[in-house]
Amino acid sequence: MVCLGNICRSPLADGLLLRKIKEQGLDVLVDSAGTANYHIGKAPDHRMIQTAAKHGTSLEFLRARQFTSKDFQNFDHILVMDQSNYHNVAKLARHADDLKKVEYFLHYLYPNQKEAVPDPYYGTLKDFEEVYQLVDKATDALIQKLIHEH
Ligand code: 4NP
Repeated sequence: MVCLGNICRSPLADGLLLRKIKEQGLDVLVDSAGTANYHIGKAPDHRMIQTAAKHGTSLEFLRARQFTSKDFQNFDHILVMDQSNYHNVAKLARHADDLKKVEYFLHYLYPNQKEAVPDPYYGTLKDFEEVYQLVDKATDALIQKLIHEH
């Protein structure tokens, strides 16, 4: 899961998916990263931690890192939160097969619509709650896909 800072949207997707994968007994490697280097090593934004905690998911153990072209080697699916993330990740693709791994995170909820998870960083707690609701639905859809793939 990839966003810009790796402190709001992608850590939420990471933590929620990890929790649901455990609940379903699936064996899937999940991680998140940001395209930017601003927040490397930091815990998620406290507003994201607070919103996820309210819904029973803990995120405080996660630490931000930057997406690298090595991630194409280590992961089968690279799921981006918005169009800008898509372009930044695509620039690091080494060949056409890397690019084929890149998909919009909301694709499983809204197929082929290039729908974005809005960036809540400059927003209010209400924006964080909206991101939570969207990411919760999208991770449910993703879990269904993973169950059918296994
Ligand atoms: P994220 O949100 O990409 O969902 O982690 C952001 C976090 C930090 C910044 C922008 C977006 N920033 O400009 O520092």
